[in-house]
Amino acid sequence: MLINVKRHGEVSSSEITPQGLYLDRRRFLRLGAGGVLSAAALSGGLWKPAVAGVKLSHVAKGPYDTREELTPYESVTTYNNFYEFGTDKEDPSRLAGNLRPRPWKVVVDGEVAKPGTYDFDELIRPHALQERVYRLRCVEAWSMVIPWDGFPLADLLKRFEPTSRAKFVRFETLYDPHQFPGQRRSVLDWPYVEGLRMDEAIHPLTLLAVGLYGEVLPNQDGAPLRLVVPWKYGFKSIKSIVKISLVEKMPPNTWAKSAPNEYGFYANVNPRVDHPRWSQAKERRIGDFFKRDTLMFNGYAEEVAHLYAGMDLRAFF
Ligand code: MTE
Repeated sequence: MLINVKRHGEVSSSEITPQGLYLDRRRFLRLGAGGVLSAAALSGGLWKPAVAGVKLSHVAKGPYDTREELTPYESVTTYNNFYEFGTDKEDPSRLAGNLRPRPWKVVVDGEVAKPGTYDFDELIRPHALQERVYRLRCVEAWSMVIPWDGFPLADLLKRFEPTSRAKFVRFETLYDPHQFPGQRRSVLDWPYVEGLRMDEAIHPLTLLAVGLYGEVLPNQDGAPLRLVVPWKYGFKSIKSIVKISLVEKMPPNTWAKSAPNEYGFYANVNPRVDHPRWSQAKERRIGDFFKRDTLMFNGYAEEVAHLYAGMDLRAFF
């Protein structure tokens, strides 16, 4: 984001994943620590309390996928943006042990018929998990391909019966400087806040993730609950959510507040609209040496372009 800006053509050694570190999915699942949640363990519902490293079972194949090569688990869990832990890519995995993802409460409020405060595990229990392989394209022009485990945000929202005044969804990350050392510094205006327009929020591509690579979400990737919006720059995919509010007005999001000329509310991946300080036309897939072309809406144009019909995407960046 504002920090760690690299010039074009530069790639740090940490961005090139050594081949030896790559574990294919089957091998990883064999080697992974922790037991599989058995059918018996799941009999009380579709979700049981679990900690990072525990494998998820009963994860169905989701309706959306890219067939591109997966980014190795090691990169997905050690090359992170999570400023609550620090601004370096390695800070989140190094300091992730500070975060306690249980017990975890999530507030659902605003323009809903059934507001409330929910224990995370109870909130998640009714939802069947799906695995979806999505591209994640960061505004810093690197990208990954990640198998997320989660369920559509739409399914959760409809349980709370949004009113006709619910036009946007606002998300908030936990604020606790004891668990998040990065919040002791005013790098950003804490807590981290993101938002989606209602039609974006209920789009079937929009996922609430509770795991990745078939395992419970590691803290550094946003445990226990994070958003994944694959056609938008990665900063929209807010981590460690404690509050979901349905609101009438567009909520100011953290990065747009921090640098309004650089980051907008929509943040749709768009190779034709440059960031003021660098081009967005190309990206480097973590593990690759050469850059590749960035695709409009991160390759999801067929599914989402209609949401923005008639909008000037230069003005609404
Ligand atoms: N959520 C919170 N709460 N804090 C953050 O700093 N960084 C965002 C997003 N969600 C961030 C966040 C950015 S810039 C990106 S690119 C993605 O998380 C990175 O997700 P990953 O580390 O799981 O790949």
